[in-house]
Amino acid sequence: MTITTPRVAPTASRSASLLKVDDLTVQFGRGPGQVKAVEEVSLTLERGELCALVGESGCGKSTLAYALMGIVPPPGKVVGGTIEFQGNPITSMSKNQLNKLRGAEMSMVFQGAMNAFNPVLTIGTQVDHILEAHPDVHPTKQAGRQYFAELLSLVQLSPERIVKSFESQLSGGMKQRVAIAVALLLKPALLILDEPTTALDVLNQRMVIEILKDLHRELDLTIIFVTHDLAVVAELATKVAVMYAGRLVEVGDVDAIFAGEFRHPYVKALISAIPSVLEAGLTVKPIGGQVPNLAQLPPGCRFAPRCGLAEPHCTEVEPALTVRGDHGVACHVIARETGPDTTTFPSSKEDA
Ligand SMILES: Nc1ncnc2c1ncn2[C@@H]1O[C@H](COP(=O)(O)OP(=O)(O)OP(=O)(O)O)[C@@H](O)[C@H]1O
Ligand SMILES: [Mg+2]
Repeated sequence: MTITTPRVAPTASRSASLLKVDDLTVQFGRGPGQVKAVEEVSLTLERGELCALVGESGCGKSTLAYALMGIVPPPGKVVGGTIEFQGNPITSMSKNQLNKLRGAEMSMVFQGAMNAFNPVLTIGTQVDHILEAHPDVHPTKQAGRQYFAELLSLVQLSPERIVKSFESQLSGGMKQRVAIAVALLLKPALLILDEPTTALDVLNQRMVIEILKDLHRELDLTIIFVTHDLAVVAELATKVAVMYAGRLVEVGDVDAIFAGEFRHPYVKALISAIPSVLEAGLTVKPIGGQVPNLAQLPPGCRFAPRCGLAEPHCTEVEPALTVRGDHGVACHVIARETGPDTTTFPSSKEDA
């Protein structure tokens, strides 16, 4: 295998974190019907991390992923905060600068990527078009095709067969793996996968998990993957970010999330609701209540109406993410238990 490590952009600062999201807010619509799909999210990712983005449906995972790529679909708009990638501010880049970055430095496999191919062109022709649009990545088109063949082997597909195939000739699991190979064609440093295993049967899910582990190791990649499946998180991720109704409620090392003492009540409830990550004999406990409508959020902590630990204060004041080391939790009760020596960001609404 002659696969090489991803390129680092000439302008990139090696000392900067690969990705730094600070107080990011993404809004859809205006006026009374407006929703903040992502609200005041802060997150840092170092090179080589494998970060899972978790949360119930509609909590803003895909919107955050789009914002990281600089492609929030209208009517959505980044209305606050900053995103830095390799030290460069994505949130203030021109369209041209962003176009250069996408694919070549950061790449995304979209939710439902299996339907992302052009049905009337072979996979090989579609790859040629990408190589023609980015002539600076590989020394020649032939070298680019060779690299794609190596990527296909890494995702356990036969290059000869795949490049000649049309999308309709591939199974769902094969299409997902081809989509991953295409996303890596221009040697990005960061790969974002939006629900890469959701639409797959159990065997294909397993294959994709193993492939992501291999890619992470062999290509020295940094990966963010969106998932609902905490069993996949436990197996694959090094870092976990949990969203609830647009806000980041917990972020940290995978061990801190699954076995840590100070966890957000929502995260505890999520783990208790997943049979595959429970020890044998324990009862599965579904989370009562529903995720709030983003256009009609309750006052204070938005998880409070479903939270067994909620106190009067929780229904009045929105908790900020309180960070201890590299573990952050947005919960008043947990913040009190962890003691005063914490760093809090963004500043609490109470302090504002
Ligand atoms: N095109 C849009 N127009 C208006 N609002 C939108 C649009 N896309 C997303 N939203 C709002 O943003 C919220 C978050 O959506 P998003 O797709 O990011 O959630 P998600 O966590 O990825 O959900 P899922 O797990 O179902 O994919 C939605 O609940 C909705 O209120
Ligand atoms: Mg989504």
